[in-house]
Amino acid sequence: MKDLTPLKSDLEPIEVASRDEIEALQLERLKWSLKHAYENVPMYKQRFDAAGVHPDDLKSLKDLAKFPFTEKNDLRDNYPFGLFAVPREQIVRLHASSGTTGKPTVVGYTSGDISNWADLIARSLRASGTRRGDIVHNAYGYGLFTGGLGAHYGIERLGATAVPVSGGMTPRQVTLIQDFKPTTIMVTPSYMLNILEQFHKDGIDPRECSLQVGVFGAEPWTNAMRHEVEQAFDMHAVDIYGLSEIMGPGVANECVETKDGLHIWEDHFYPEIIDPTTGEPVEDGQMGELVFTTLTKEGLPMVRYRTRDLTRLLPGTARSMRRMEKITGRSDDMIILRGVNVFPTQIEEALLATGGLAPHFQIELYRAGRMDAMRVHVESTPDAANEAGKAAAERMLSKRIKDTVGISTEIVVADPGTVARSEGKAQRVLDNRPKE
Ligand code: DLL
Repeated sequence: MKDLTPLKSDLEPIEVASRDEIEALQLERLKWSLKHAYENVPMYKQRFDAAGVHPDDLKSLKDLAKFPFTEKNDLRDNYPFGLFAVPREQIVRLHASSGTTGKPTVVGYTSGDISNWADLIARSLRASGTRRGDIVHNAYGYGLFTGGLGAHYGIERLGATAVPVSGGMTPRQVTLIQDFKPTTIMVTPSYMLNILEQFHKDGIDPRECSLQVGVFGAEPWTNAMRHEVEQAFDMHAVDIYGLSEIMGPGVANECVETKDGLHIWEDHFYPEIIDPTTGEPVEDGQMGELVFTTLTKEGLPMVRYRTRDLTRLLPGTARSMRRMEKITGRSDDMIILRGVNVFPTQIEEALLATGGLAPHFQIELYRAGRMDAMRVHVESTPDAANEAGKAAAERMLSKRIKDTVGISTEIVVADPGTVARSEGKAQRVLDNRPKE
């Protein structure tokens, strides 16, 4: 793999600023953001008043803990534009997430927000090892999803060449990579596996292609998956995180030279980790739920937004801004099976450590009598697609899950190509339990 470490001279001053400088900037911006939310969004005024707090009460960063949380339902309850803090005419772009139930969540951006977003994607790409003049194959979905357009503007801001291919039409993805020779690909990790498979179908060695780095996000993925993709393509795999409510992709990004978790762009987003049951902030280093307050967002300021994503905060390394560990999963995706908490990422790790199995999987939950049960659908690699190979892989995976996660699961090893493929975010869990 090529050394893609960015030049120190290419970094922005704030990326290498002292903690004191970063915190001073955060405090100043936080005061502005709380005031902006309070004065322009009726929900925040009501909430702050009801909690007996006022933006003037924020004297230090720690004081933020006195302010009430915001949740996904607040966006739904104020659908579509009720949380915007500027007149609708100043909103130049809308995005929305479909969600699995009920109304979509709608988010809006001023031209200033779009510009900051482009800057942060450019910063994220630079951290990933992409440079001005590179070609970037952007396979995140274009449309209401923030992935495609969000990344697009940042690629252009960096001064790179954007290939706005979006998701889907997998054979064409491979053709364009072969013909345009991008150095960077931006795509969900699960769709990257799909593209990998297409390389093999076309008889092209993925290690020979032009890609030097993949910027993967929008869904949880493990270090085991990083290793898998890095080996398959002989390229770096770095993690990009974000969520529509806070901005979209580019809230945090790994640095290619360290790959030790994602630096949160703390000059625009203030992170906290809370205990998900009590709501109390926990110390850096402790696992919990990630909460963000936006520091510069004009269109849709968010105060203490509960992401439901589980991780912990770590000190800065390659940059002075703090890191978040790779996301373990969302609290909503946590499966509780006979009292044991299970995340799809744990199944991914066990699967990738087992020989004879392809890296695709889906978890099915069903009811066995009065108990919930779990079945893991996987598939054998072409060379192990025989009875003996499948039986061996099934035994090994079942034992590994039992040993590492502590639960007994049924493993179904099917033929290559049978587990559902994703073209964006993978659906890891199929819940076939009867609705109560
Ligand atoms: O997924 C934004 C995005 C697009 C991020 C492209 C990165 C790349 P939403 O559709 O609103 O926005 O979904 C946000 O996806 O709360 C996490 O649960 C999950 N997620 C996003 N990035 C990661 C990641 C986009 N790197 C939700 N690791 C978040 C784990 C991630 N989960």
